[in-house]
Amino acid sequence: MIILGIETSCDETAASVVAMKADESCVLLSNAVASSMDLHVQYGGVVPEIAARSHIESINPVIEQALHDAKTDWDSIDGIAVTCGAGLGGSLLIGVLAARTLPIIKKKPLYAINHVEGHVYANFLTSTSLPGYVLPKTQPEFPMLALIVSGGHSQLVLFRNHFDYTLLGQTNDDAIGEAFDKVAKILGLPYPGGPSIGKKASEGDARKFKLPKANLDKKYDFSFSGPKTAVLRLAQEQIGESFTFPSSKLAERLSESQKADIAASFQRIAIETVVDKTILAYEEFQPKSVVIGGGVAASSELRRQLAERLPLPIDYTDPKLCTDNGAMIAILGCFKAKFNQPAADPYSLEINPNLSM
Ligand code: KG4
Ligand code: ZN
Repeated sequence: MIILGIETSCDETAASVVAMKADESCVLLSNAVASSMDLHVQYGGVVPEIAARSHIESINPVIEQALHDAKTDWDSIDGIAVTCGAGLGGSLLIGVLAARTLPIIKKKPLYAINHVEGHVYANFLTSTSLPGYVLPKTQPEFPMLALIVSGGHSQLVLFRNHFDYTLLGQTNDDAIGEAFDKVAKILGLPYPGGPSIGKKASEGDARKFKLPKANLDKKYDFSFSGPKTAVLRLAQEQIGESFTFPSSKLAERLSESQKADIAASFQRIAIETVVDKTILAYEEFQPKSVVIGGGVAASSELRRQLAERLPLPIDYTDPKLCTDNGAMIAILGCFKAKFNQPAADPYSLEINPNLSM
């Protein structure tokens, strides 16, 4: 079975072709991505209108590129999968409208995909004909504990089987990636904040500053707004100013070593927060596998801390499949088709920017 996946929930216009074999193993045949990131860097975050406009320009070429790279054509495609939520409304609309048109013209089934579930399914890809990918050797086993950490989500989910899961906990305020992006802005580091904080942190002392970890009533919930505000206060204190000092002027007053120590201390506490809860859930539910997904799953600090603290071996997917991509959407489309999940109606499929798990 061969599925084309389309993803436009944020600033990446992405399309990918994935084949599923009879034994349910998934092969990546292409992974085309056009990012509008360069256009957003000057604003320090994604500007929804700019993202939507650039999806309009890129969607058709990216789909063509995905088919071309996969050395396939429409006759070989068995279905189309598209992200219908969660994400930015204007961005989702472009992908969904393209995906609604194609099944009608090409007479193929359409599968509506939850972006966050897609991030989890990136871990089910075990082989590719493309160069430059390091993939897990085997697919994760159920029950599977999934930690989803992205710019829009921080969730801990227990999967008993495909399409049978329970949300154990989630963030009460900012997503972890969002907190990385905001802290990077305070420190004058470029967007996206996760990789730039990771880089700066490697020059700093992660134990230099003690930032608070949130203590929440719900065992598996997270909170990142406290540590983010603590960074703001710490930065103001470091330059000898009060809490009224504007955050936009902090970066020019902080030294490079102060920035590195703050970045390292924040990264340690933010990653420890999600790792602590993952270990807690592992101990309670004893899953056969643990997977991570979402942009922050590319973090080498997260990978290091989890590998160090989890009692079972963990096989990570390629960082290119952690940030937004069409492959994760195509893989979940393959499983939906395989397990006879209902197809979507191309005449009426709507976007759902607030879709939850
Ligand atoms: O999954 P994603 O591409 O988009 C959303 O669904 O939100 O995640 C984007 C987030 C951003 O906040 C970015 O700072 C973070 O993922 N990120 C990283 C890394 N690469 C991207 N965080 C830590 N380390 C990375 N290498
Ligand atoms: Zn994402």
